[in-house]
Amino acid sequence: MNFYDSGKISDLLNVHGYKEINNISEADLVVLNTCHIREKASEKLFSDLGRIKKLKKTKPIKIAVTGCVAQAESKEIISRAPHVDLVLGPQSYHQFPEMLRKLEDGCPTISITEFSTSEKFDNLPNAKYIDGPSAFISIQEGCDKFCTFCVVPYTRGAEYSRSFSEIINEIDNLTQKGVKEIILLGQNVNAWHARDPVDHEISIGNLINEIAKNDKLLRIRYTTSHPLDMDEKLLEAHRDIPKLMPYLHLPIQSGSNKILRLMNRKHSCLDYIKIIDKIRKYCPGIAISGDFIVGFPGETEKDFNETLSLVREINYSQAYSFKYSPRPGTPASLIEDIISEDVKNERLYKLQELLNKQKLEFNLKFLNKDVEVLIEKKGKLENQNMGRSPWMQTVYVDSQKSNIGDIKKVNINYAGLNSLRSSAFK
Ligand code: 5AD
Ligand code: SF4
Repeated sequence: MNFYDSGKISDLLNVHGYKEINNISEADLVVLNTCHIREKASEKLFSDLGRIKKLKKTKPIKIAVTGCVAQAESKEIISRAPHVDLVLGPQSYHQFPEMLRKLEDGCPTISITEFSTSEKFDNLPNAKYIDGPSAFISIQEGCDKFCTFCVVPYTRGAEYSRSFSEIINEIDNLTQKGVKEIILLGQNVNAWHARDPVDHEISIGNLINEIAKNDKLLRIRYTTSHPLDMDEKLLEAHRDIPKLMPYLHLPIQSGSNKILRLMNRKHSCLDYIKIIDKIRKYCPGIAISGDFIVGFPGETEKDFNETLSLVREINYSQAYSFKYSPRPGTPASLIEDIISEDVKNERLYKLQELLNKQKLEFNLKFLNKDVEVLIEKKGKLENQNMGRSPWMQTVYVDSQKSNIGDIKKVNINYAGLNSLRSSAFK
């Protein structure tokens, strides 16, 4: 989501005469787009601000902080880093150009952290340039689920769905510029809903059906989903729409029903297993990914072992796992049954060992098989292309010819933990 937002900020400032550059020492404006999800991500802002402060001594640059840390800690940012000129929450960055003008007119530090999601989308420009054949598009923002560990409902606000026509128009614009794959984005992307022209309630499954009618578009993905919103229409889309890729990122966070209750996840392990069973029936071989938190307050050895059992039962193609990080203002941060850092490290290690084993086994199944790869860019090595398989694996293909934007069949002759490789296009 931040990656997408950064692109939108860049598009917006581009319209107003700014140009994105890579060398910070040449910049007139530095934008730090921040993440608040875990403490580590959040603290990074303050260390970056320390470094940029030195730059400001040599040149009159403007510094802006956007994103969720801006939303949650605007006062702290201004008091800890008075050299920051502009603080803009994630729902206010459409106001960026106007605020820059105010700063140029001599206005002191500005901070805006209102929630005006629909206004934001109404005021963002369509992408002028594309960054390769795969593009993100935000269709949903915010969250009403209130998992007890999570800051998203506070930083991104209530669930908001962009309108059907806005989404279709943005995708048309992208495919006309050469985009072949779109990744529908949302904190709860499958909570997306709207009314169709004849006033029927529609969900993301219907939306994917409509998007798939765009002839220029070859692949569709979506992320991140919540188990409660995995409706039948979406599951059927995985059976019926070949353009919808066989990959599902569906976080469960823990394999213990007790911990799921403490997390306020509103579903049990069995609910989750039933969804996975069904989607595997509809779309055999689908890659399943997830998110896990270890060391949530109150997690016993038994609870953690239940997570390992669930991982064994599901058999993931890949997954993200994190140590629990108490976040200010969340209900879980008030629970006193804290797990020590040593235990968290030990559990994370064990979980990642198992997840990596499953990931490698998943990748090894593709050895000597033909796979269709959407070529995204040149690889780091000479005569190398980099793309993705339908199951989201990174695939490197040796070839002098670069076929960026094409879907090419290749035979896999190497399968590692993080990538597949092929020695030629077929
Ligand atoms: N501590 C650790 N991990 C967290 N996540 C969200 N909040 C926290 C937290 N306080 C993880 C969840 C979520 C992913 C985006 O980040 O696993 O699915
Ligand atoms: Fe956070 Fe996702 Fe839970 Fe919403 S559903 S509160 S975004 S973890």
